[in-house]
Amino acid sequence: MNKILVTGGAGYIGSHTVVELVEAGYEPVIVDNFSNSQESALEGIAAILGRSITCHRIDCTSTYALRDVFKKEGDIAGVIHFAAYKAVGESVEEPLKYYQNNVGSLMALMQVMEEFGVNNLVFSSSCTVYGIPAELPVTELTPVQKANSPYGNTKKMCEEILTDVAASDSSLKTIALRYFNPIGAHPSAKIGELPLGVPNNLVPFITQTAAGIREQVTIFGNDYDTPDGTCIRDYVHVVDLAKAHVVAIERLLSNKAESIEFFNVGTGRGTTVLEAVHAFEKATGVKLNYKIGSRRAGDVPKIYADVTKATEILGFRTTSTLEETMLSAWNWQLHLQESTANA
Ligand code: NAD
Ligand code: WQD
Repeated sequence: MNKILVTGGAGYIGSHTVVELVEAGYEPVIVDNFSNSQESALEGIAAILGRSITCHRIDCTSTYALRDVFKKEGDIAGVIHFAAYKAVGESVEEPLKYYQNNVGSLMALMQVMEEFGVNNLVFSSSCTVYGIPAELPVTELTPVQKANSPYGNTKKMCEEILTDVAASDSSLKTIALRYFNPIGAHPSAKIGELPLGVPNNLVPFITQTAAGIREQVTIFGNDYDTPDGTCIRDYVHVVDLAKAHVVAIERLLSNKAESIEFFNVGTGRGTTVLEAVHAFEKATGVKLNYKIGSRRAGDVPKIYADVTKATEILGFRTTSTLEETMLSAWNWQLHLQESTANA
């Protein structure tokens, strides 16, 4: 059974990917320092799979700690690298923390992978590398632009490092997945997004408002050049996104990939904030308390993916409607409430 190291595997997307890897017959091994996740994620994964998954509680910026994991685990066939900090606003306040962690962890990982002859890497990138695109939908050939946050710049820098290494005589093969907006949760409602503190992202703010934890959703601006004036995004179900990682690792292990490949992972559909809010209300029957507020600095007005390349080469397809995805997010929120009440 191919062993796959999943850094950040206790996180939102990582935990869902661990489940899909097992379902696809792989043996995932988690590496996580729980800087932005909780041990309960491991319990949720175990509840879904009926067995626990090995987890090494280490910092991926430490080559020493990573070396120890590679030694202990032996035959690692590939790595999926999720471990990073992702809060855009925090990255503006603490840029060094983001460069050290996000770029540092990739550098440390690549060094140890090379030492142990592990040559297959799936990297978590982001549509944020496209900045404010001139044309829509964005393809993988849409120019990468100057990032509008240190967080976005860490993703851009990591892509550049991986591209330079690919251009050298390195044996490393990388697939970089550029995620759009992952939302929702596993249908079991045993794993999902666990934002620490006040959520930055739309969907957890919606579910927490619907649950009465937050007073009201503020929609950041309705004066954009879009059908209803609110921003457009490409919201992709986190389980569909997790499955994209399985097909990416399969492509690498079957030696079909070039030295580095980039894929957009989204639905290919643009959705406005108001449409997302109404989809949540329709899916759950819960009336949401929201108001229109001023624009949020740094917001991209419109972005959504052209997913032709992922569809044709990876065979990637999204399977959930926006309403189904919103309902999965709501069911996860209800599960969280129940767990808190029973704690
Ligand atoms: P997350 O914060 O839920 O998961 C990241 C995990 O990595 C957490 O469990 C955290 O504890 C761990 N981690 C962070 N730094 C670490 C380190 N130095 N050593 C060990 N573990 C470490 O985030 P997520 O939403 O699951 O995102 C996963 C990846 O996808 C990140 O690289 C993120 O930048 C990228 N991404 C996320 C989104 C999104 O909207 N969620 C969109 C595009 C790209
Ligand atoms: C979505 C839309 C907001 C909250 C961010 C990062 C990106 C990536 C995904 C890591 C926007 C609007 C939001 C709210 C609102 N993360 N909104 N009220 O900004 O598209 O992307 O997460 O890679 O790098 O930038 O996601 O969920 O914050 O916002 O109106 O309370 O919802 O203006 O249009 P975003 P988001």
